[in-house]
Amino acid sequence: MELVDLQIGIDAGGSLTKIVTIRDGKKEYRTKDFYGALELARTLTGYDRVYLTGCRAGTLEAHLPDNLKGRVYRADELEAFWAGAHKMLSEEGRPSDSFVLVAFGTGTSVFTVSSGKGTRTAGTGVGGGTLTGLSRLLIGITDFEAIMDLASRGNRHLVDLMVSDLYPDAKASPVLNELTAANFGSREVERSSKEDIASAILQLVVETIAVISIQVARAHQMETIVVAGSPTRHPLVRARFGELGALLGHDFFAFLEHGPYCGALGAIITGKRA
Ligand SMILES: Nc1ncnc2c1ncn2[C@@H]1O[C@H](COP(=O)(O)OP(=O)(O)OP(=O)(O)O)[C@@H](O)[C@H]1O
Ligand SMILES: [Mg+2]
Repeated sequence: MELVDLQIGIDAGGSLTKIVTIRDGKKEYRTKDFYGALELARTLTGYDRVYLTGCRAGTLEAHLPDNLKGRVYRADELEAFWAGAHKMLSEEGRPSDSFVLVAFGTGTSVFTVSSGKGTRTAGTGVGGGTLTGLSRLLIGITDFEAIMDLASRGNRHLVDLMVSDLYPDAKASPVLNELTAANFGSREVERSSKEDIASAILQLVVETIAVISIQVARAHQMETIVVAGSPTRHPLVRARFGELGALLGHDFFAFLEHGPYCGALGAIITGKRA
């Protein structure tokens, strides 16, 4: 019988469970909701090593088959995230010596990573959970793809108070015309559609994260800001970071091909025997 080395890294976060399987060095990536992840956990018998991280790792561990004892490893969520991001950058052949890293998950953490070591430098409770929570409250929609679809067709200028609403001369300038004076501060906010509101919610979240991470980059004299986490899968999220970078004078937002899986890969790198 052929011997195959089989490892799995599971990042069971507050919203989604991200899974990286490494079969003889080859990686596969998938995402499940937590119930799907519990079902998977019960069937993980054939693995040589199982690495767990994320706030729901303990619950997952309790559902693993008994015969995995001695093959289970646990990793600190924050350490796993920056270690995974560092590894992905170098695997993609991109500079990885010094960068700001944003874990855009349910909430948001901001790290500085230097010479392969990360430090959590800032964070905010504004994150992916804000996006889905505000959408549920304001437009009755919770599905992430549906929110993005609406946002792509909306006009946030009907919801946000723009600098150009306060200073009409700013309308002539493409940069000043896009600057927000107050998110959700438009005097005509009640005229806005679901699409406009979805666009403004996305803006509120991305703008908050962009502003904080740019401040961290400037304070630490770092150029590149790598944004990772499940929401960065969506092209509209990436595009908003790009627009804001250009607007705020820091045009160095970067994304990873497998950005949602930093924690899951990092768990395999940093996990310690449970
Ligand atoms: N299908 C999807 N594709 C991309 N993003 C999604 C999808 N479904 C939900 N999201 C967004 O991703 C967010 C969760 O991101 P992520 O999986 O990185 O966080 P998490 O690890 O579950 O949370 P945390 O690390 O904060 O505990 C959700 O709050 C939502 O905004
Ligand atoms: Mg997470």
